[in-house]
Amino acid sequence: MHKKLLIWDLPLRLFHWAFACTILALWYTAEQEGEFIELHMQLGYFALGLVIFRIIWGFVGPTHAKFSSFMPSPKSLYHYLCKQSSPSKPIAGHNPLGALMILLMLLLVLVQAISGLFIDDDIFSSGPYYGTISKETEKLMRFLHHNVFDLILASIVLHLSAITYYWQVKKLNLVKPMITGKKSTKLVDKSTAIAHSKIVLAIIIALLTAAFVYWLVIINAPVSDDFYY
Ligand code: HEM
Ligand code: HEM
Repeated sequence: MHKKLLIWDLPLRLFHWAFACTILALWYTAEQEGEFIELHMQLGYFALGLVIFRIIWGFVGPTHAKFSSFMPSPKSLYHYLCKQSSPSKPIAGHNPLGALMILLMLLLVLVQAISGLFIDDDIFSSGPYYGTISKETEKLMRFLHHNVFDLILASIVLHLSAITYYWQVKKLNLVKPMITGKKSTKLVDKSTAIAHSKIVLAIIIALLTAAFVYWLVIINAPVSDDFYY
């Protein structure tokens, strides 16, 4: 009998699906000619909070959430790409190439969210730190906000292509474990299972992160919306 082992903790899974939905909603609200810009900004704060949470979780979460467990090195990438045919079981957590993509996605979304704080939409709405930096830096922020998203989209396409490749060619369903958290002992070693999801710690970090983002975009924000009315 094959047993099911817990690999992806619940906070990581909730993070993933919230992150995916938020990025898609940010894309949609940005494309509606300013109609949804307030909602866009609020979703942007949420995305910023999600990335901060995931970074902290990468240090204190369970094994497979930890950066130290999947930080790719040139050596691990070479091994993964060139010695694929080895008969060993698939890696329980992220593989080195996937890990590289994940770090890139987190970094790109962080840059996108931070640059958003400093720009306006040329109509009524502006990020909470609009006008607090020099004109040149503001230009750079605008450039980043208008262009980094194309890189985010490209990385999502690669992300989904890799998952489809695993599913169709390697006959490995990676999506189900990202929903249930579990992988079968048929595929991964018993020793790779995590004991539990560290839910209480995750709740504390989520609350602290939410408080920090609230402070950053509301309490400490020099630009208030009332300014325009
Ligand atoms: C419906 C669309 C999506 C599906 C089916 C999907 C599926 C997956 C799966 C299966 C994994 C685990 C990969 C592994 O086994 O190593 C994963 C990880 C990840 N995905 Fe997605 N994904 C989707 C959309 C997105 C989007 C839109 C983003 C945002 C840019 C995203 C960002 C990530 C990140 C950051 C991870 C790493 C999770 C972590 O370690 O915290 N995904 N995704
Ligand atoms: C990760 C989070 C975010 C994503 C993925 C995102 C994505 C986008 C995209 C794709 C556009 C359209 C750019 C274009 O027309 O070329 C846009 C525009 C905009 N975003 Fe964001 N955004 C994010 C966060 C934020 C935040 C936090 C704010 C402000 C608080 C913000 C404020 C704006 C504004 C004001 C515009 C309009 C810019 C213009 O019309 O020139 N965004 N965003």
